[in-house]
Amino acid sequence: MKTMQLNEVRQAFIDFFASKNHTPVASSSLIPHNDPTLLFTNAGMNQFKDTFLGLEKRDYNRAVTSQKCVRAGGKHNDLDNVGYTARHHTFFEMLGNFSFGDYFKKDAIKFAWEFLTDEKWLALPKDRLYVTVYHTDDEAFDIWHQEVGLAPERIIRIGDKGKQYESDNFWAMGDTGPCGPCSEIFYDYGDHIEGGLPGTPEEDGDRYVEVWNCVFMQFNRQKDGTLEPLPKPSVDTGMGLERISSVMQGKYGNYEVDLFVNLMNTAANILGINNEEQASLKVIADHIRAVSFLIADGVRPSNEGRGYVLRRIIRRAVRHGNKLGATGSFFYQVVPALVEQMGKAYPELVEKQAHIQAVIQKEEEQFAKTLAQGLRLLSGELDKLNDGDTLDGETVFRLYDTYGFPVDLTADIARERNIELDEAGFELHMQAQRERARDAGKFDVDYTAAIKTDVATKFLGYETLTADTTITGLYQDGKAVSSLQEGEQGVIVLSATPFYAEGGGQVGELGEISTPSGVFAVEDTKKSGQAIIHYGTVKMGQIDDAQPAHAQVLDDIRKASSKNHSATHLLHAALREVLGTGVAQKGSLVSSEVLRFDFSHESPISTDDLNTIERIVNEQIQKNTPVSVEYMEIDAALKKGAMALFGEKYGETVRVLTMGENADKSAFSIELCGGIHVMQTGDIGMFKIVSESGIAAGVRRIEALTGLGALRYIQAGEHTLSTLAGNLKAKRNEILPRINALSDKQRELEKQLEQLQQKLASVQAGELIGQAKQVGEHQVLIAKVAGIDGKSIRGLVDTLKSRLNNGIIVIIGQTTDLAMAASVAKSAQDKVKAGDIIRHLAGELGGKGGGKPDFAQGGAANSDKLDSILAALEQQILSSLA
Ligand code: ALA
Repeated sequence: MKTMQLNEVRQAFIDFFASKNHTPVASSSLIPHNDPTLLFTNAGMNQFKDTFLGLEKRDYNRAVTSQKCVRAGGKHNDLDNVGYTARHHTFFEMLGNFSFGDYFKKDAIKFAWEFLTDEKWLALPKDRLYVTVYHTDDEAFDIWHQEVGLAPERIIRIGDKGKQYESDNFWAMGDTGPCGPCSEIFYDYGDHIEGGLPGTPEEDGDRYVEVWNCVFMQFNRQKDGTLEPLPKPSVDTGMGLERISSVMQGKYGNYEVDLFVNLMNTAANILGINNEEQASLKVIADHIRAVSFLIADGVRPSNEGRGYVLRRIIRRAVRHGNKLGATGSFFYQVVPALVEQMGKAYPELVEKQAHIQAVIQKEEEQFAKTLAQGLRLLSGELDKLNDGDTLDGETVFRLYDTYGFPVDLTADIARERNIELDEAGFELHMQAQRERARDAGKFDVDYTAAIKTDVATKFLGYETLTADTTITGLYQDGKAVSSLQEGEQGVIVLSATPFYAEGGGQVGELGEISTPSGVFAVEDTKKSGQAIIHYGTVKMGQIDDAQPAHAQVLDDIRKASSKNHSATHLLHAALREVLGTGVAQKGSLVSSEVLRFDFSHESPISTDDLNTIERIVNEQIQKNTPVSVEYMEIDAALKKGAMALFGEKYGETVRVLTMGENADKSAFSIELCGGIHVMQTGDIGMFKIVSESGIAAGVRRIEALTGLGALRYIQAGEHTLSTLAGNLKAKRNEILPRINALSDKQRELEKQLEQLQQKLASVQAGELIGQAKQVGEHQVLIAKVAGIDGKSIRGLVDTLKSRLNNGIIVIIGQTTDLAMAASVAKSAQDKVKAGDIIRHLAGELGGKGGGKPDFAQGGAANSDKLDSILAALEQQILSSLA
């Protein structure tokens, strides 16, 4: 069969239809310009919708395109399947030829047949093709039968599913719009793949794959479901380029097509791994196309609409890279390989390459900040569940809200453990959040950048949670505005505020600003120059510039953050006490949920040291000493022993936080800090370290919880322990010895099993020896052995080798699949090589394998051709020895 690269197939299609007087038309944008009902362009005919309807006149009546399509989000959503099936994509190219009131069924069918089967074009064997027609479409049936010459049993009539015109062979663009009966062409991959012809109960199998859909556009479906004839019968066809390319390359799955193999190799190189059959590599190869083309067509990652679909795709790819061991941003690095593959056909990729890479890299970096934490939370929750369980909606919501995990990303991860999501529960939480007008959206909004203001906001937050103040500026999308309406997002600047702006590792505060005319939910607080800016949504009425305002910080969240912030200081001092003064702060993050502290230290911290550190911090909490704040000259502060932070710029006067007490009554911790803290160390309640890890050479990270968060963590651990005790039917103090005993037992059983397998192999070897054929000085043995897998096959072959004279041994072990191994004696290696035998078998059986002249190993799926393949192999070996 002819072989063609993907780029060649695309070109051949355009050339063929150009030779039939079709005008080659460029792909339209992925953002449909003339159709607000469509999220993304998803078929070749989208750009011609009005032409079919007779609303738009073009100066050609035949066209040919290769159209960019995206099926992710919206009605046709294939996102979740990508990576796990042979043919799903988020982005694909649809080849199509179109007639606008020019030719109709007869030519459409004849063109398709000629392109697929003629020697000059794809030259597919005719006996591999089948077609379907709409059950009442006698005209199409007759054309296939009489004009093309297809036997009637190769033409299958497909009826309606329940309702009239609800059929695989009646194509409609949507609930309204152009539609008509269609005829589909199927390719038969052969009887080694399961599946039945269309219309049979086995039609969902993979043997017969639809490659081309020819739609005979005849009607315009109205809102009430009635069909009005189009001004003129027309033709719309669609052939997935990736699919037909896999056929043209003799491959079964789309991801084996040259373009994808190249992309997967590139991704594997970047990640420093082998390109083995990995779903995650497929995901990356697929997603880089959708993402790059969407960005080239003007979409940006955001929290709604198309932008959110783009974000979901990027984040899904990043997570799969992470699964393969990516440590930093990697996804944007795949773009050059894509541009190399597709830039010629789509010049926009070349033109926008730098921009595409920058957008992806930024999104990767943004997501990296929360990915690891979110994954930890999620795997902790999933660990508590069993196969077939459902993950609660609250966790799904928290991952979405706090860690930026789109729901389908969480679903993707849960599915790896066969766990589903409580989507209804998630929706309830979303609803509640909307009602609180704290809509998600704060993950990435860089709303400080565009805001220009000279206002210096007075910060009142150290003393108070509430303040009566005045609005001095309103902004929307970076532009100053005079008012913000209900439901709108924007930024408020105040003359004075109790809201703490993100800084010193502590995240911005949340709460509410109300004026006489409206209420604004503050979803984040940041600094912009001297101004403190409040980002959020108007949840009631409207907010006007220059109004008096009442600002109120959310008490609970502030309390939780201040606990975490003060505990960070205590942790810092305890680390220096236990590990030495070489410990220097490298970074920190304080939110209402968790504290994270990065510091210089060469080696992992022992459990003993971690316990000591945890105890010291808790002792300081229990002493319940007041936290004191002083303002002083920087020099005086440093003299007092205050720890100043790496690379931080301090003004003349600094704020000094002192807390805790040593045995000699000296201060336990003194730090320069602008953050919000507790009043007494006892307010922290409890301190619990949850992880210690290395994040870079010489830098460690500790994550910890305080207050009720710490309690919840400990309770979850308790729950695990008592469940474990229950399952083992043991007391708590018996759990460890019981598990040790179990694993000793398991090791012993494994050893016994191995010994048994060796004995079995030796018995089998004895039986097999008799089957060996003598050729001159050589003994040749080719045999199938049931129950032998890849692990035990080598032992068997070795035993046989020691018992045969100058043996040439090929053993196929049969379990659920095939393991194969070959051994060739030195004296025969100039004629037969073990590596060649296994490569030959792998080729014949569609498996993998290889090795050296003396020994080689491989594997493949079971095949009913095995016997004939082995018989032929034996003939070959015997004759090469003769
Ligand atoms: N518009 C038709 C389809 O998408 C060709 O299948």
